[in-house]
Amino acid sequence: MAPDHAIETRDLRKSFGDVHAVDGVDLRVPTGSVLGLLGPNGAGKTTTVRILTTLLRPDSGEARVAGLDVVREQDALRSRIGLAGQYAAVDENLTGRENLEMVGRLYHLGGNVARRRAMELLAEFDLVEAEGRLVRTYSGGMRRRLDLGAALVARPPVLFLDEPTTGLDPRSRLALWGTIEKQVAGGTTVLLTTQYLDEADRLADSIAVIDHGRVIAEGTSDELKARVGGERLELTLEDSAQCGASIEVLAPMADERPTTENGVVIVPLRHRAGSIAEAVRRLDERGVAIDDIALRRPTLDDVFLTLTGHAAEEQEKEAAA
Ligand SMILES: Nc1ncnc2c1ncn2[C@@H]1O[C@H](COP(=O)(O)OP(=O)(O)O)[C@@H](O)[C@H]1O
Ligand SMILES: [Mg+2]
Repeated sequence: MAPDHAIETRDLRKSFGDVHAVDGVDLRVPTGSVLGLLGPNGAGKTTTVRILTTLLRPDSGEARVAGLDVVREQDALRSRIGLAGQYAAVDENLTGRENLEMVGRLYHLGGNVARRRAMELLAEFDLVEAEGRLVRTYSGGMRRRLDLGAALVARPPVLFLDEPTTGLDPRSRLALWGTIEKQVAGGTTVLLTTQYLDEADRLADSIAVIDHGRVIAEGTSDELKARVGGERLELTLEDSAQCGASIEVLAPMADERPTTENGVVIVPLRHRAGSIAEAVRRLDERGVAIDDIALRRPTLDDVFLTLTGHAAEEQEKEAAA
């Protein structure tokens, strides 16, 4: 019987010298759902994933995945999890098909079964045409798809994706999101790490924001956005003396009372649709001239700034391998 929670951790900790990479993490991921572990570089995402996939022993705390203890039952656990990530673990000097067959044999599938499974996955991940090419000739997006395929060879009920789209171009990102969604629709439990709110937004049922090894906020994407203030309109007026008047005029569109910050009028929006046009119309009727108007959605930086008081330092800069 499947446990209610496919992933459960209690006060998980791991340090490297003075660095508390994972500093007391509690997570509960209901079976069949997707948890987005959202945080900047160095937050402790990969360390958490490595502990949960038995690659690293925690210093203390407990973690169970698919009902199995990650330390005491690591051998049994390995066949029930898949891991794919930012650094695709496929062999450059083998073809796509060879890579998948090799993984199948590592899982003790017979030669025929391994071959059949490889072909299935190549088809699923749109790699049939490239199956006989060495992986070193693959694009970044193709490698990530192959890597994801490799993680799925043994049909694991729990899948870990460590920054699956970091470094990919927007089109490959979208394609990979679709692929991940298909897996989720098939009932796989997924823990996904990401630096991008939009990725967590699209894929995750719930999000845990992690910083300096700690979960600093949890909730659905809507709940987190609400904490950062949701979407807002930002307006600069030709005559800043009219800020007060514009606040009165725009207040009916707002969730909370509009404010001004350094001469910019900020309107927390109740509804996004048509808000620019409505604001322009309302201000026009009152003879208020607009210099600039923009719709701002909360970004990961806003989430971080609001929750931690510091910006999410550096975004990942490296290009697709
Ligand atoms: N093997 C290691 N040795 C020393 N420090 C490490 C090691 N792995 C991770 N760290 C440090 O632990 C912190 C968390 O790293 P990591 O889990 O990789 O973060 P993320 O995946 O969120 O970017 C960072 O400060 C990182 O430098
Ligand atoms: Mg990482």
